[in-house]
Amino acid sequence: MTTPTRNLALELVRVTESAALAAGRFMGRGDKVAADQAAVEAMRFMLASVEMDGEVVIGEGEKDQAPMLYNGERVGTGAPPQVDIAVDPIDGTRPLATGNLNAISTVAIAPRGTMFDPGPFVYMNKLAVGPAAQGKVDITAPVEANLHAIARAKGDRVDDLTVIILDRHRHERLIADVRRCKARIRLIPDGDVAAALMTAWPQSGIDVLLGIGGTPEGVLAACALRAMGGEIQGQLFARDEEELRRGREMGYDFDRTLTMDDLVASDNVCFAATGITDGELLRGVKYSGGGATTDSLVVRGLSGTVRQVRATHRLEKLNRISSIPY
Ligand code: FBP
Repeated sequence: MTTPTRNLALELVRVTESAALAAGRFMGRGDKVAADQAAVEAMRFMLASVEMDGEVVIGEGEKDQAPMLYNGERVGTGAPPQVDIAVDPIDGTRPLATGNLNAISTVAIAPRGTMFDPGPFVYMNKLAVGPAAQGKVDITAPVEANLHAIARAKGDRVDDLTVIILDRHRHERLIADVRRCKARIRLIPDGDVAAALMTAWPQSGIDVLLGIGGTPEGVLAACALRAMGGEIQGQLFARDEEELRRGREMGYDFDRTLTMDDLVASDNVCFAATGITDGELLRGVKYSGGGATTDSLVVRGLSGTVRQVRATHRLEKLNRISSIPY
């Protein structure tokens, strides 16, 4: 028995709230770049207040050569604990810009050196399930075998299951395989962090996430599922021979199954997510009368506590003490 320790996730939620409040203003405005910039600035502003010596391992960096929250950037006050940070200021920039569902802001931390560093390799094949099917799936097995294993673990039939998949041409075969098994499918335009979390969220009705999405999103989902229960497995995916060759030269193995322990090798993880636009998991930001409301998930791996935080913000007050124009 020890005395309770600090829960950094409770501080991280201010970071994702801040990014969501700033980004939410851009809903439907058709400007992905401006939305992303606003979210990144707000996230970085708030991260600076968190007492930690953080190094960004999963940042804005590789895809867009961003000037802020780039891989390797130090964030926080610089005081212990030493942590790795994964950020996705907006997962779902496209749905945000077009005023569609399921854009969220997320951040995760874990002890220094425990997060998977994907280098420049941006895509990963993923299989995520909730607690009931944890330990029962294998990303290298045929889809049919996994769906039967999940159904067995949950006491369901395969045609009771709902599989969530990013709606991409590259998934045509996967979709055909799932259809052959008669499982139901939810095709989503974007946002596979939220999709992975839904597998561990019974009210969502989602049983499994399958398919290729972003590698950073895979690491973020692994941090959340560490605490929520459930599991994600991944395999780096090379878009062409050249990427495969480059990866091999750098020591990456594209055939290797990345387990939860590979993606984040510690239970001491903290994760926060705030809705930007409405979604099944989180409501989006609402602005009115000089105020705003946000809806967040706050997750801590050590205790396994999942908090839902609904916050009201007084923007005229915030704008007095913050350089971020909410
Ligand atoms: P961003 O909003 O960060 O661009 O990510 C949206 C997203 O849908 C992710 O959730 C997903 O992992 C990835 O893009 C899939 O990549 P792509 O759109 O290139 O297929």
